[in-house]
Amino acid sequence: MSKIRIKTSKNFNGTVTLPLDKSISQRAAILDIPMNSGIVGKDIDVTRSACEKALIQGEENLYLGNSGTGIRLLTGYLSGIGKKYVLKGDESLSNRPMSRVSDPLNEFGAKITLNNGKPPIEIMPSELKSSFSYILPIPSAQLKSSLLFAALNAKKKIEIIEPVLSRDHTERMLSFLGCDIEIDNGNNFRKITLDGSVPFEKKEIFVPGDFSSASFFIALAILSESSAVFIPNVGINPSRIAFIEILKKMNADIVLENIREKNNEQFADIKVCSSKLQGVNVPKSLIPNLIDEIPLLSVLSAFSVGQTSFEGLAELRFKESDRLKAIISLLKKIQAYFHLKNNDLTILGCGHDHVFSKGNFNSFNDHRIAMCAAILSSRCAQEVSINDITSVETSFPNFFENLANLGFTIETK
Ligand code: S3P
Repeated sequence: MSKIRIKTSKNFNGTVTLPLDKSISQRAAILDIPMNSGIVGKDIDVTRSACEKALIQGEENLYLGNSGTGIRLLTGYLSGIGKKYVLKGDESLSNRPMSRVSDPLNEFGAKITLNNGKPPIEIMPSELKSSFSYILPIPSAQLKSSLLFAALNAKKKIEIIEPVLSRDHTERMLSFLGCDIEIDNGNNFRKITLDGSVPFEKKEIFVPGDFSSASFFIALAILSESSAVFIPNVGINPSRIAFIEILKKMNADIVLENIREKNNEQFADIKVCSSKLQGVNVPKSLIPNLIDEIPLLSVLSAFSVGQTSFEGLAELRFKESDRLKAIISLLKKIQAYFHLKNNDLTILGCGHDHVFSKGNFNSFNDHRIAMCAAILSSRCAQEVSINDITSVETSFPNFFENLANLGFTIETK
């Protein structure tokens, strides 16, 4: 299934079934922690099977598909156990920067080489230093978690200073499992210390629905006339939900109900209705918290009144596609006014009644861009077509099924 055409009715009511949280599931796969069953994307399957190959079957060559989280976290986990591994991925992953993890891991004592800063990642046998201290130069949960996993698996000590907060699923999971991990929330930064030599228990965890997957249906309800969507069991880890905070500031009608917590992770049911948005300034410090939702928020702001600005979007260039380039392509297609300068983006809202005329979108083989384009069908005068949607399987295999259940007509070619 590649090319798709989507037609939509103007309004709908319904319930969305989410896949399990990708970040938490991938961490559980690497640590071999039992979890609830549910719908999972290909990124999780590929990470789980690479771990089994490495750790159970003793294989050296590992394939991580499209998964940046999988390859970066597993590189950390395998780097200090004294064995050789070669980690590779698909075309998109083969073009993503890996020195952000290999540089500090090598400082920690690993022996990792790359191909011009990119995969394949070759790990040679080595022993990590007894302790390592590092200040994160970029706010990346993948980098932070790669280092924590390296220390944990090699039973060494690590201290990580995080000047700008990134998602904290790893810290919450390690703390739940009984690891010796301490978090010091200072005024200007956060300090994480872990003593990997202290044994932990492989307790079963509950993985809620993926917030980033939910964000597409939150956006859909907001954009559509007289519509309401109910999304049960959504992970609402505070380091992941700035998308909701910002949308509420923009006047969106979103309610979190039945908030509960299991294994240090909060989750809730989300109700969202059609809304008339106002433009907003998104502070730079919140960018890591809504990193995967920025394409959606950018296009949503085109249907608002007023101006929306984002500062410091450089990290988007290193995702499954160059997402800043992809956002610009989406904004052009929906006939929005915008200005991009030095990775800062300003979008001028076209108003609440804005519709665009033609919807032939390029997904850039990036799951989040493909799903963003599909959601935009709600504001297209004609049907929307997307050149390639295969990538959607990596995070949200039942995305189109959910759209169909809400009354969308979907034709695949
Ligand atoms: C993730 C961290 C983020 C995010 C990615 C998942 C994780 O990447 O974009 O989809 O699970 O740790 P960075 O750490 O590169 O910002």
